[in-house]
Amino acid sequence: MDATINKILKDIRPQMRCERYEHTLGVMYTASALAFRYEYDPTKAMLAGVLHDCAKIYTCKDYVAECTRYGIEATAQEMALPHLLHAPLGAYYAEHKYGVTDPDILHAIRVHTLAGKDLSILDKIVYVADYIEPSRKECPALSRIRMLAFTDINKAVYAKLDNVVNYLKRSGYEVTDTTLELLDYYKKISEGEHNE
Ligand SMILES: [Fe+2]
Ligand SMILES: [Fe+2]
Repeated sequence: MDATINKILKDIRPQMRCERYEHTLGVMYTASALAFRYEYDPTKAMLAGVLHDCAKIYTCKDYVAECTRYGIEATAQEMALPHLLHAPLGAYYAEHKYGVTDPDILHAIRVHTLAGKDLSILDKIVYVADYIEPSRKECPALSRIRMLAFTDINKAVYAKLDNVVNYLKRSGYEVTDTTLELLDYYKKISEGEHNE
């Protein structure tokens, strides 16, 4: 394994709950498998995967305070649901604590919770890997999304977003216009209405 990734794993292992660490390993390996499929650099995908939840450590109880402390910019949506701040904070830690300078990796970590319209292939790989990794609990359509991830990544992004929106609605959470707009955007892409 890449020496940098090995070092990061050793550092985060004692700082994470067991299930979180298992999830991190799952995302890292799933991201590398998807990188093979989409002819992307597997080491970059693994690095983004291993660090995507690096802000979810025992010592970080207050994402808002940490973001304020380091002057990290967050969206209104992230401020409304502070657990989402582990994405921008994670990108900050990846750069300043683990020395990652590759903007592609930092961006993939930054957008792994809410996605966006301007996603690179690495962003999509991490976004999808986060949802389909082996320790992820069963949810509606999970096996279909796992299959789609390796056949059409845009369809997998749309399917994950659709699942997330349905979950939010079922659970009584507000679904923002930004999220609905994004859902519609990826619906059109997955139906071939946008050229990428
Ligand atoms: Fe996350
Ligand atoms: Fe995650």
